[in-house]
Amino acid sequence: MRIPFLSLFPALFLTFFLTAHSPPSSIYDHLKHNGLPIGLLPKGISDFSIDPNTNRFHVNLTHPCNSEFEIQLHYDFNISGVLSFGKIANLSGVSQQELFLWFPVINIRVDDPTSGLINFDVGVVDKQFSLSLFEIPRDCTAFDPKGSLSISQKPSELLGTEIVEEHMLRAIS
Ligand SMILES: *[C@@H]1O[C@H](CO)[C@@H](O)[C@H](O)[C@H]1NC(C)=O
Ligand SMILES: *[C@@H]1O[C@H](CO)[C@@H](O)[C@H](O)[C@H]1NC(C)=O
Ligand SMILES: *[C@@H]1O[C@H](CO)[C@@H](O)[C@H](O)[C@H]1NC(C)=O
Repeated sequence: MRIPFLSLFPALFLTFFLTAHSPPSSIYDHLKHNGLPIGLLPKGISDFSIDPNTNRFHVNLTHPCNSEFEIQLHYDFNISGVLSFGKIANLSGVSQQELFLWFPVINIRVDDPTSGLINFDVGVVDKQFSLSLFEIPRDCTAFDPKGSLSISQKPSELLGTEIVEEHMLRAIS
């Protein structure tokens, strides 16, 4: 049987055309387009903007929230950063919990996708996580400032505790 190859061509062409020419339409598309896992940001973001020249993006969440999984992340109302391939630089609005303290995540990098690892630069240390943790955007539960002791310390209040943290990390490693 002959494969009706030519009849497939218009469909293939159309797919190519759409993929190549439609600009990424969600912030998740932009992450994907830059070789980053879409689960770095929580589920359901629709209010975002990105500057096509600088690749600086802004995201407004409906509420600040915490994503709780193997690692705890806190997302502020407003998140911004600069996207480039395999990297988010100048990140603001995302913090990571470590030993009950919150540390702003400054940069996120995937140096080598084949390693399956992603790096979070939290200022004092580079933390490595499995890329697979961030495959899908997570639910993000509203942040309650009056909640547990561990989340009552706002990231912005933590300048100055970084040194302590570094010693603690050294002590346990
Ligand atoms: C976020 O909210 C601010 C203030 O309401 C608005 O100016 C901005 O356009 C919104 N969207 C983004 C993507 O920053
Ligand atoms: C941050 O996000 C909130 C909620 O979407 C919005 O009301 C506020 O104006 C934003 N601020 C900036 C600086 O975009
Ligand atoms: C990152 O932020 C710093 C200080 O705000 C600024 O000087 C630098 O140009 C920014 N980098 C990018 C790539 O936007």
